[in-house]
Amino acid sequence: MQAGCRRRGKASAFVERSAVLNLTILVGTMTGTAQLVAQEVELTLDDDQTRVKTRLMDGLDAGVFAGGGWFLICTSTYGQGDVPDNAKGLYGSLQVTRPDLSNVRYGVIALGDRTYGDTFCAGGRRFDALLAELGARRLGEVMLHDASAGTLPEELACGWALEWISLVRQAPQLAA
Ligand SMILES: Cc1cc2nc3c(=O)[nH]c(=O)nc-3n(C[C@H](O)[C@H](O)[C@H](O)COP(=O)(O)O)c2cc1C
Repeated sequence: MQAGCRRRGKASAFVERSAVLNLTILVGTMTGTAQLVAQEVELTLDDDQTRVKTRLMDGLDAGVFAGGGWFLICTSTYGQGDVPDNAKGLYGSLQVTRPDLSNVRYGVIALGDRTYGDTFCAGGRRFDALLAELGARRLGEVMLHDASAGTLPEELACGWALEWISLVRQAPQLAA
C-alpha cells in the first residue's frame, strides 16, 4: 500500500516535470522599454510549469534558434521602421543563413508609436514575417503597443502573455 502510494507520487512528479515548458524571450531594444516589458513578462509567466529565460539580442545570431522550442520576440522599432540596433545582428543572420525553423514556435510583443504612421511596430512585424518565412509558427496575434496611447506596455504585455501562454499550453507540444 505504502509502496503503491510512493509509486503514484513518483509518477505524478514525473508528469509534472515533463510538462515544464522552456520559453526564451529575445529582446530588441534601444532605450530599455522592451527589456522592462520582457522582465515583467518573465516574472508573470515563470512558475513550476514554465521556465522563462530572457536574453537581450546583443551578439546573438540565428544559432539561438538551433534547438527549436518556444520563443517570445519582444522588440521595439527604430529608424524608418527598422529593428533596434541590438537586434540587427540576429535579424541579418536569419536573412543570410535562412535556417529551417520548422521546430520553432513563437509569439511577438511589438513596441512602437502610431505617430510614425506606416512603420508602426515594424520591428516586431519584420521579425514575425521573417520567422514565418523560415518555417517557424506563430501562436496568437502579434501584440502591438502604441507609445502615444498613454498605456503602460508592461501592463498590456503581461495581460497578453497570460492569454498567450494558455494558448501555448493547449497547442501540441514540440518533441524534446
Ligand atoms: C528615433 C526613433 C525612431 C522611431 N521609429 C519608430 C517607427 O518607425 N515605428 C514605430 O512604430 N515606432 C518608432 N519609434 C518608437 C519606439 O519604437 C517606441 O518608443 C518604443 O516603445 C521604444 O522602445 P525601446 O525603449 O525598447 O527601444 C521610434 C522612436 C525613436 C526615438
